[in-house]
Amino acid sequence: MSVGTWKKGLEDVVATGTKISFIDGEKGVLEYVGISIDDLARNSTFEETAFLLWNGRLPSAGELDGFTKDLRSRYELPAGMAGRLISLPPTAQPMHMLRTMVSALAMHDPEPNKVDVASAREKALNILAQAPTLVAFFDRYRRGLPLVQPRKDLSFAANFLYMLNGVEPTETMARAFDVCMILHADHGLNNSTFTARVITSTLSDVYSAITGAIGSLRGPLHGGANEGVMVMLGEIDGVAGCEKYVQERLAKKDKITGFGHRVYKAYDPRATYLKTLAKQLAEDTGNQELYAKSVAVEGVMLREKAAKGIYPNVDFYSATTYHSIGLKLDLFTPMFALSRISGWAGHIIEQLADNRLYRPDAEYTGPHGVAYKRIGER
Ligand code: ACO
Repeated sequence: MSVGTWKKGLEDVVATGTKISFIDGEKGVLEYVGISIDDLARNSTFEETAFLLWNGRLPSAGELDGFTKDLRSRYELPAGMAGRLISLPPTAQPMHMLRTMVSALAMHDPEPNKVDVASAREKALNILAQAPTLVAFFDRYRRGLPLVQPRKDLSFAANFLYMLNGVEPTETMARAFDVCMILHADHGLNNSTFTARVITSTLSDVYSAITGAIGSLRGPLHGGANEGVMVMLGEIDGVAGCEKYVQERLAKKDKITGFGHRVYKAYDPRATYLKTLAKQLAEDTGNQELYAKSVAVEGVMLREKAAKGIYPNVDFYSATTYHSIGLKLDLFTPMFALSRISGWAGHIIEQLADNRLYRPDAEYTGPHGVAYKRIGER
């Protein structure tokens, strides 16, 4: 191996080929299987998008109907899972709950280790259908409210909001949430997707791959940033306080959460759509000040940092969007996970279809030939 050729953080290293999503970070383009994210956000549904990611094409009407019915038939948790969930400490963080309970789903699968592509699809469909039930049940349990069973007559988005709140969401809310799910579904070889592919490449199981990916996603440099944005907006004293707040943090060389991206050096196309959605929802729900603060922070950041290619990322306006939908702060990152399970599963299927074990090298930079010293001599 040649010395000193490794890239810290694997920046710009191409680790695999994929037909699932395409990103042009310079132009701010994101496509799922060649279809622009904007087109999908305007015209598709999350169910249809998941089919697209798993099959490399849009479904026919019959296929979509079949896929949707199949997904809905799996909303309910296996017997015993709800009991396990309500034995968790109510103070547990939802991302830790989700990571643990997705892992636990494997113990209810009679053949958890089957990793042929057809079996992987089945397992992924179960996880995609049941993750929202886990999150909604846990949130109601910790609030001391009775659990609300899933409804098969509702879409993925509407069913989740129904289980969470105990009332059917309005069409506008359900559609807004559906669009959020579409926008977060896949994004190239991001850290959590890479994690899922690395685990899959050992021919470990789908549960392990998605559990690992959830662990990766919750980091504040990745999906955890949407919660950080909300915390930051809460710290700012009105629209008038935005300039001072951002300037002070930049002067301390702090990073402003919700800005910057390893790949995008232009406006994140998901942020463009989420900004419109955040504005509309903030107006509908009386959260105009939150939206106005977000716009003011963005204004300062664009003035100070756009020349360096730092723009709002997907997490910035999802914070206002999720808050306006009525979600509690610690549910923001789980929302990202509910959607991204579809992308992780697409990559798991793609990896299994043409697998090769990931096993990179590390350049050893430590000493050699060191004599062992007995403990009393150290
Ligand atoms: N605020 C201010 N400056 C920033 C920001 C930011 N959010 N992001 C990057 N910069 C600056 C850095 O200070 C650095 O400046 P320098 O060259 O003067 O030292 C330069 O831009 C490059 O920054 P890096 O951290 O090296 O870029 P990297 O590609 O590693 O960063 C990352 C990507 C981790 C997302 C970074 O932008 C960041 O930490 N952002 C805040 C956290 C965040 O929003 N994460 C969510 C990302 S989207 C997602 O995962 C779903």
